Amino acid sequence: MSESNLLELPFTAPPPPEPGRIVVSDAFELLRSLAPESVDLVVTDPPYESLQIHRARGTTTRLTTNWFATVPNERLPELLRETYRVLRPDRHFYLFCDEVTADVIKQQQKVSAARLPNGARKCSCGLVYWKEIVWAKTTLDGGRIRGGTGYHYRAASERILFFEKGKRALNDLGIPDVLMAPRAGVPGPAVKPGAVVRTLIAQSTAPGDLVLDPFCGSGVAGVEARALDRRFLLGDIDLAYLDPSLAALAPHDAIVARAAVVMEEPAEPPELEALADASAAEDELDAARACGWLDADGATAVLDELLDVRPIEREAAVRRFLRTEPPRPREPDRLRAWRAWALSGRRRS
Ligand SMILES: C[S@@+](CC[C@H](N)C(=O)[O-])C[C@H]1O[C@@H](n2cnc3c(N)ncnc32)[C@H](O)[C@@H]1O
Repeated sequence: MSESNLLELPFTAPPPPEPGRIVVSDAFELLRSLAPESVDLVVTDPPYESLQIHRARGTTTRLTTNWFATVPNERLPELLRETYRVLRPDRHFYLFCDEVTADVIKQQQKVSAARLPNGARKCSCGLVYWKEIVWAKTTLDGGRIRGGTGYHYRAASERILFFEKGKRALNDLGIPDVLMAPRAGVPGPAVKPGAVVRTLIAQSTAPGDLVLDPFCGSGVAGVEARALDRRFLLGDIDLAYLDPSLAALAPHDAIVARAAVVMEEPAEPPELEALADASAAEDELDAARACGWLDADGATAVLDELLDVRPIEREAAVRRFLRTEPPRPREPDRLRAWRAWALSGRRRS
């Protein structure tokens, strides 16, 4: 190489593309903030409205936790429209949901019985809908299907709606549409198993591609994208359950509670009304004072706000407050126990 050629080389190598980013954001705002055709894959798991049906029903109510606020069905068309907009041409979109929400989405998107020559079906947002992939929940060793909740055949599966923008072949045409994996078994809002998410990413992206999950929860999409050398952008309104291996990427002021060690035995707070009218036990009232719910005049604006939340959403709001409000130094044991409850997922009995 001649000296003149050497001088033409760039002075420093360009920085590698940012491998991963995590933001605290409303999913719809995050999507709106992204440029059109800027993402290679969307894989996400919104807190769909029908979770409230499961929570409101007999046995299931006792067996599920009330982790988060839900996104109403009428906002789902916006989610699909924005996903279509941000996806590059010839890309895929995977949406985890249950049977109820799958029906809602197909109706909203006017997915009819009429099929394109390739067998897929058109959606009104511009995507085409291929099919439901099933996550079959297994025992830990993967040996057999493990039933969950419900009285009409125990629920042992979840759906993943598979959409396409343009035309893209899957990387491995031999993968079946039933993906077997045990439940994730880590604390968090309906955490999906890494093995399932990894398959979806591996099937629909190439190394260096950008994977987006705007309702990221534990950030499993980021963990798996990173393992496969894909880039990722994750968002959630609450990063409390972010996988500790991603904590360094979270914004400095975000509370990544799962990364902290919970020492205290969990204890649920009493009914908020019992705090507001001071009929709760003294240690509970102390805890409520320490977290800013009570002052010398009684209920503070913070507690009033929680009391105003619809009863069905209230537990999620209380948990979220306790998880995300930064702990103060020397908190009473009772308040630390409430915070541990907010993280542990144990339900009000
Ligand atoms: C079903 S969970 C996602 C679980 C995730 N797939 C995992 O495997 O860990 C839904 C997530 O959506 C978040 N969420 C609820 N409303 C949101 C909103 N408007 N914008 C962004 N995130 C939201 C919740 O905090 C929760 O973490």
